Amino acid sequence: MSEHPNSLASIGPAAARWRDLLEARAIPAEIRAAAPEDPSRHDPSRFVPPVVPDDTPSRHAALQLLGPAGGTVLDVGCGAGAAGLALVPRVSHLTGVDHAEDMLRAFERACTERGVAHRSVHGAWPDVAPEAGTADVVVSHHVGYNTLELAPFVAALSAAASRGVVVELHAVHPGAWLDPLWAHFHGLHRPPPASAEDVLAVVAEVGIAPEVRRWTRPARPRHPDAEVDFSLRRLCLPEQRRDEVAAAVARLGPRNRDLVTISWST
Ligand SMILES: C[S@@+](CC[C@H](N)C(=O)[O-])C[C@H]1O[C@@H](n2cnc3c(N)ncnc32)[C@H](O)[C@@H]1O
Repeated sequence: MSEHPNSLASIGPAAARWRDLLEARAIPAEIRAAAPEDPSRHDPSRFVPPVVPDDTPSRHAALQLLGPAGGTVLDVGCGAGAAGLALVPRVSHLTGVDHAEDMLRAFERACTERGVAHRSVHGAWPDVAPEAGTADVVVSHHVGYNTLELAPFVAALSAAASRGVVVELHAVHPGAWLDPLWAHFHGLHRPPPASAEDVLAVVAEVGIAPEVRRWTRPARPRHPDAEVDFSLRRLCLPEQRRDEVAAAVARLGPRNRDLVTISWST
């Protein structure tokens, strides 16, 4: 176990490696300072849950944990609620946790439209875990790569679930797709991205032996303007660079769609 200078808790080698991988890819302060808007912000309109959920291994794993009678669900980093709402009608109550207020409003709208009993908890997981309480099943999709302190995040997911947990993540850090454009626009050569193997090492270090399913999400048509908005924001570039970014994004080719479902019973 090693002691990180910024943390009171001692952490294991996998969690330390995870933190090093993420910290090495932090956006340099001078680039972030010049960014027209927060590069890590998510746009809620990109996360609106589909009316008919995709039939994915993550949905299967959560439905299996819920069983035919269903139960309560806690969705951590819920965004607009896609992970939890994919389990309707087996969800008797859905709690959504997110640190972005605009995402929670989108979550509430989506639950109301579907007539799903819900509650939202504003704040960062695991800090707000006591307020969020427990549920039969805890789901957390596409949140791990935003999380520097992954071990307490995972341990708190487990502690909040009476039946089990389902985590869904990209096989490789989703931001790695833009690495060639960091070199092109900022001359910044980014270090290797974290991957699901690094997540699994942390999960094992927390003492969890999960089931792991690897799969590829079907290609979806993407709106080119939305893709360029996203890339401008992530790359900390102003609107005036739109045409250049659009041309560079078009040359990049499709995003990586390889995903991993990590689930366990509690
Ligand atoms: C990429 S989005 C995924 C949203 C949703 N789970 C989905 O799959 O559509 C990540 C979401 O997690 C939230 N988030 C990231 N880290 C968080 C944390 N530690 N606690 C609470 N919310 C977090 C972000 O605000 C964002 O809404």
